[in-house]
Amino acid sequence: MSYQTEYQASIQRPEAFWAEQAAGLPWFNPPTTILSTDDNGIDRWFADGRMNTAYMALDHHVEIGRGEQIALIYDSPVTGSKRQYSYRELRDEVALLAGVLKAQGVEKGDRVIIYMPMIPEAVMAMLAVARLGAIHSVVFGGFAAHELAVRIDDAKPKMVLSASCGIEVNKIIAYKPILDEAINQAKHKPQSCLLLQREQAKAALVAGRDQDWQETVALAKPAAWLPVLASDPLYILYTSGTTGKPKGVVRDNGGHAVALHYSMQAIYDMQPGDVFWAASDVGWVVGHSYIVYGPLLAGCTTLLYEGKPVRTPDPGAFWRVVQEYGVKVLFAAPTAFRAIRKEDPEANYLKKHDISCLKTIYMAGERLDPPTYEWTTEHTGKPVVDHWWQTETGWPICANPMGLEPHAPKPGSATLPVPGFNVQVLDEQGRLVPAGQQGAIAIKLPLPPGCLPTIWGDVQRFKEGYLSDYPGYYNSGDGGCLDKDGYLFVMGRTDDVINVAGHRLSTGEMEEVVAAHPAVAECAVIGVTCPIKGQIPVGLVLLKDGQDIQDAQLESELVAKVRAEIGPVACFQKALKVQKLPKTRSGKILRKLLRQMAAGQEYSLPSTIEDPDSIVQIERVMREQGLINTPDLARAI
Ligand code: COA
Ligand code: AMP
Repeated sequence: MSYQTEYQASIQRPEAFWAEQAAGLPWFNPPTTILSTDDNGIDRWFADGRMNTAYMALDHHVEIGRGEQIALIYDSPVTGSKRQYSYRELRDEVALLAGVLKAQGVEKGDRVIIYMPMIPEAVMAMLAVARLGAIHSVVFGGFAAHELAVRIDDAKPKMVLSASCGIEVNKIIAYKPILDEAINQAKHKPQSCLLLQREQAKAALVAGRDQDWQETVALAKPAAWLPVLASDPLYILYTSGTTGKPKGVVRDNGGHAVALHYSMQAIYDMQPGDVFWAASDVGWVVGHSYIVYGPLLAGCTTLLYEGKPVRTPDPGAFWRVVQEYGVKVLFAAPTAFRAIRKEDPEANYLKKHDISCLKTIYMAGERLDPPTYEWTTEHTGKPVVDHWWQTETGWPICANPMGLEPHAPKPGSATLPVPGFNVQVLDEQGRLVPAGQQGAIAIKLPLPPGCLPTIWGDVQRFKEGYLSDYPGYYNSGDGGCLDKDGYLFVMGRTDDVINVAGHRLSTGEMEEVVAAHPAVAECAVIGVTCPIKGQIPVGLVLLKDGQDIQDAQLESELVAKVRAEIGPVACFQKALKVQKLPKTRSGKILRKLLRQMAAGQEYSLPSTIEDPDSIVQIERVMREQGLINTPDLARAI
């Protein structure tokens, strides 16, 4: 079927379209209600369908004869280990772990936090929680104790699953002290913790609270899957918003399974048995959707890679893995390819490997800059698909639909709206803008299956944050334009969210940490262009009267503070003293102006600005430090 026919069917007759897609999955009771409205007035998919996501992802495949096919490949250059699990083996491991959780009292609807490195047990943990109809919340390993504590207090987990350490290239990151500190800081105390001891660093267990993973699993009885309603939550994944409090994006079971299953074929052109590799982390949405659930729902083999694109051991790491396992689709953030290109500009490491198995490379997580697109296309000789999505949607909103009808790419564009997503660009009054003109990218309701139905415990925040700016639309928070051919160009966030190495972070959250320094009166944190990571945060800091702390000392204290409270992943490394911050007369910091200035864009001073010189002074300091985006810097990316 052509893309256009399929797309129009999805928009004009969404219920018939999604009912047809849902029929491809093994439900216990197929849904009879396709689209309905819940008590909060939010659109919901497949409300009365009964199913279990872990059953669909594992047991079902064993039942239909796929039991001996490899489900999960683990490749860890940082530990020098490799392991593979067939669908049957993975199902059995998951059932045993589910038995442990059940014995610990985990029941349907209970939350379980997973704070783990990129090891197979992290995947098993997610699936074991899903098997019991409980709700997992994976917290990325690069977050500090405070971030974990905030998530513990919001999700109120019955249990936490963790490991003794993670490994970052050659550094051992002890996770257990971070976990202990987080539980110490949190008001909510989980009943128990299950801890996987890795040989690189053993951790002390807290008597009465912590259990040893291996010992407990060895004694466990397998637990059966529990049917849930399609609308029951599968997971909560916290993501950065504009304030310090992260948002718990809720994903339901049924819509998620249908959307991911559909995407594996329509967007990624994957068939059962094909090898899919998302080089991300299970702590991010890409990891949830395309390391764990998508490939397994589709009967593919998925790859879990505990390493980096470079330094583990060299910039040929991606190509080595592709060749070794016959990877058909590779999905990573543009920053990973920028890191490879920097270390291996002529792609000499690539030439040492046979990547003929690789059909397509997909990129997402941040804007795919044309130079990275061109370098990757030229050196690999493979189609490179830029696709745009968000934690909130859980799957791509715009992509080149390779499984339906490949389209000619346009560098800088995420191509076309995926079936189900009615993407529009709106002006500030909510009117459609003409083709080629920039505005807010919004999605006309109903959102397709798989997208968030609420923010955990805060439906009002969901409505106010996403649905109220443009009635009848979901506001994505990204700006951009649709061209005359309907291709979408995403230009970047219109709020205070930044993307650092493909990791979504809140500058507002960093500001709270910086502003709490005793010498700081106020501050603004903005994203500036970085040739490898896309963006990095920079703090503009105004000191309290009478403070004469040296620049270097201030910077190192602030860097240490952000690292300790948010985590190393924030990459906060630069703080500049300023004499004033640009503000309106009513005292609001003009952040949009600062963003435009840092991006090297033309800006005009609003009539409400209190002290026009403040921005001139900041621009001068930033220019001296090479922090303003220039055509040269843009070309270097
Ligand atoms: N656990 C603990 N610490 C972590 C971590 C984890 N899971 N992930 C990252 N960190 C730490 C790193 O060790 C580093 O610490 P340091 O400041 O002490 O060196 C810091 O957080 C920043 O990490 P990162 O941004 O990953 O930088 P890097 O220099 O180690 O690697 C890239 C740079 C580009 C190679 C890497 O960021 C990358 O591969 N990015 C792809 C991102 C991605 O997959 N995004 C998902 C969306 S698709
Ligand atoms: P996350 O929720 O971490 O997936 O981050 C989502 C944000 O990343 C989006 O709102 C965009 O700002 C950005 N993003 C993701 N994919 C792309 C893309 N292909 N092009 C441009 N920006 C992207």
